[in-house]
Amino acid sequence: MNISIVGTGYVGLVTGVGLAEIGHHVTCIDIDEEKIRKLKRGISPIYEPGIESLILKNISEERLDFTASFAEGARFADVVYLAVGTPTGIDGQIDMTYFNKAASEIAEAIIHPTVVVIKSTVPVGTNASLQKLMDEKAKHKVSVVSNPEFLREGMALRDLFEGDRIVIGAENEESIQIMERINSPFNIPVVATSSKSAELIKYASNAFLATKISFINEIANLCDRVGADIQEVSFGMGLDKRIGSQFLQAGIGYGGSCFPKDTLGLLQIAKESDMDFPLLQEVIQTNSRQQKILVKKLLAKLDTVKGKKIAILGIAFKPNTDDVREAPALKIMGELSNQGAIIYAYDPVVKKHSSALPQNIRVVDTIEDALNQADAALIVTEWEEIKALQAKEFKKWMKHPVVFDGRNCFDPDEMLRLEVNYQSIGRGGEQKVLILK
Ligand code: UDX
Repeated sequence: MNISIVGTGYVGLVTGVGLAEIGHHVTCIDIDEEKIRKLKRGISPIYEPGIESLILKNISEERLDFTASFAEGARFADVVYLAVGTPTGIDGQIDMTYFNKAASEIAEAIIHPTVVVIKSTVPVGTNASLQKLMDEKAKHKVSVVSNPEFLREGMALRDLFEGDRIVIGAENEESIQIMERINSPFNIPVVATSSKSAELIKYASNAFLATKISFINEIANLCDRVGADIQEVSFGMGLDKRIGSQFLQAGIGYGGSCFPKDTLGLLQIAKESDMDFPLLQEVIQTNSRQQKILVKKLLAKLDTVKGKKIAILGIAFKPNTDDVREAPALKIMGELSNQGAIIYAYDPVVKKHSSALPQNIRVVDTIEDALNQADAALIVTEWEEIKALQAKEFKKWMKHPVVFDGRNCFDPDEMLRLEVNYQSIGRGGEQKVLILK
């Protein structure tokens, strides 16, 4: 099939490369000409393990191309995927500006009957509104289909090729069959639903995963008070197949471009249906509190951070990505900086000149540069090379070996043995050996 993808962000680029890899002819469209120039040379605008080799492979096999011209990119396509951003706008509203603009351009550009696929995360009912717009504006018959994505940054290619399900939402059988044909080489179960159900599956899935995380974080906070160990509690819970062990890792809360946006988005959808959603409100508030917990622990220990050197290990919102959107590190560094701390931050991938970082922090090239003569260290992102640190290195480099571990990367007993003043999340209690019968 001839497929066009509008938007070459995390979702659009990975989806386009994946569809080319399974044999389709894919043109990725983006308004950012510099980004398109780089993509044509196989240079990815996103940090996604394995993406660049797949881009180059599919360009060389002439199944993948990139253009900044909408007309050139969309006009010959049998199917056009809408994969533009739908960010959080003012007071949590879902900002549909980019989506609506791209939709109008598609209506203008197509030259024969076309299937338009909504890949972006959009409010329930968007499919129906877009179908109405296309019926009114497009020069040829357009069938609108919903096909939400479930890709995790840093694991997006794995989630694309080894996903649990492909959700297709449409009101007509023919579009569903076309989407089943497009996706059949993935050999992943296809769930065909109404468009509204497909739109809600996306928000509900992300909101549920966020709920799991906020729940286990509260249990971790309770562990600190009662002297239990969150890793043992989480392990024992996760063995129950109804609960599952994934997304049950306590820490300093979720970040990224999706969970924060989609939980707020789902609240807006409920509100527009005259429904309060207090459970989801609390998930969001719990997460916001959890992101501040390391600063709270630090201030309880040092009284003040004014003039103190604080090492921040990890800036990206999670490992294997360079994305800092809604990252706990931003809130932590902002708060510490406001209180006069001197911040030395290290991350293996996040670029020094990332515009999203607070101005007066120093991004250093090595862990040692961050730890050297620091009064305290905060572990914020569980990168492998941070987890590989030995307790003795904190002793060796830091002025005072005081470590607050937001991702439970280290062994409290080892830290205690080497006299590192160590606090983590929910591991106040004695840690026993986990015995599997
Ligand atoms: C998420 C969803 O997983 C994905 O299906 C959806 O399509 C997009 O949003 P992503 O935001 O890329 O993916 O990252 P994910 O791996 O889900 O982690 C989200 C956040 O939750 C990260 O900040 C991570 O640190 C945190 N997290 C995750 C926890 O705190 N504990 C966990 O056990 C798992």
